[in-house]
Amino acid sequence: MALRAGAGTVVVDNFDDIDRLEHLLEHDREARARAPQRVLIRVIPDVDADTHEAMATGHRHSKFGLAVPDAVRAAARLRGDERLLLEGLHVHVGSQLLDTAPFARAVEAIAAIGELGEHAVYDLGGGLGVRYTYADRPPTIEEYVRTLTDAARKHLPATARLLIEPGRSLVAGAATTLYRAVTVKHGPRTLVAVDGGMGDNLEPMLYGQRFEATVGTRVGGGVGCDLMGRHCESGDTLIRDVPLRDPRVGDVIAVPVTGAYCLSLANNYNGARRPPVVFCADGTSREVVRRETYEDLLRRDV
Ligand SMILES: Cc1ncc(COP(=O)(O)O)c(C=O)c1O
Repeated sequence: MALRAGAGTVVVDNFDDIDRLEHLLEHDREARARAPQRVLIRVIPDVDADTHEAMATGHRHSKFGLAVPDAVRAAARLRGDERLLLEGLHVHVGSQLLDTAPFARAVEAIAAIGELGEHAVYDLGGGLGVRYTYADRPPTIEEYVRTLTDAARKHLPATARLLIEPGRSLVAGAATTLYRAVTVKHGPRTLVAVDGGMGDNLEPMLYGQRFEATVGTRVGGGVGCDLMGRHCESGDTLIRDVPLRDPRVGDVIAVPVTGAYCLSLANNYNGARRPPVVFCADGTSREVVRRETYEDLLRRDV
């Protein structure tokens, strides 16, 4: 698909990817017409990022990319094939990094591959963390970019082109999830159950990501409550010990900073229908993704 669509650059992760590209460029007429295909090599920088292990992607045993000696071999192979044009390297150390040091270490690590030409591309991936909780202090965009450019000046050729892919930090703060409280149980802990959960936000369950929350009409204050999802697991806990002021059935409970990896990880577990998405600005709103229906859930049944 990438070759036929004329993708400018393909990132190869392994030697099988190179085999596949070579095969297509040999046998697929449409793909062949577009040769030479530009490629980057994904490199394992052997950098431990301080994030949840499921989101760390640059450590020694990462499943993504090639270790430096293998990347050197891949580069030699690509240079020997005129249908492929080695444009540079790609690295991604992980997501939700609150410290800039691993970014700099990754640049230093990929410099070990050696010179790739005057206009080589160094795609440094994503990783810039987001402020999910009051306590989080992610780097500013300026600190993040300064870290990358300082490391590039130190370790890469002066004419290197840098690319970045900061997905999470671009979109996370753009969304707030609005739930409706359906049950409030007072016991040893106050449990506030809502009409959503791991079907619309898997970040707490997959990555231990903590969020904040508030009652829509009573912002601030309150006592620590556990915000529970509606699914059939105790693990369907959205937030433990989050202060909510006098939560009651029917309240809107707002969970901010849900713009990244929530909708894309949303699922139909327990037959839950995925929520709609509404864009709001300047006092107006517009539905851009409609609420899923039960008919949607049955649509693929044969
Ligand atoms: C190759 C690559 N680039 C960029 C990103 C986005 O990273 P982030 O979530 O840190 O913005 C990802 C996410 O997994 C990725 O795999």
